[in-house]
Amino acid sequence: MADLRIEQHPIIEFKKRKKIKFTFNGKEMYGYEGDTIASALHAAGVKVLGRSLFEKRPRGFYCAIGNCSSCLMKVNGEANVRTCITELEEGMVVETQIGKGEII
Ligand code: FES
Repeated sequence: MADLRIEQHPIIEFKKRKKIKFTFNGKEMYGYEGDTIASALHAAGVKVLGRSLFEKRPRGFYCAIGNCSSCLMKVNGEANVRTCITELEEGMVVETQIGKGEII
């Protein structure tokens, strides 16, 4: 698993945070307390979070404020979760969403 996090910076000090395990498409991964699902995936090198509805083009982290729907994923069985604004929790099951998702 890639780790694209900045660990040292000349003027910013990063505090140690609690490690949080989750799964992404069945693969065990980890993020840190305070991460969103999308930020944890991005830091792990996952750039494609889903596919566009009709053309199936790759979709990823875009607005990062919950406005564009580019980061919709299935989380703990619930479809259409905006992962850029959903905080990562221990044991979450995160999956790439195909199509519109299911209505629960
Ligand atoms: S990246 Fe735009 S809603 Fe999540």
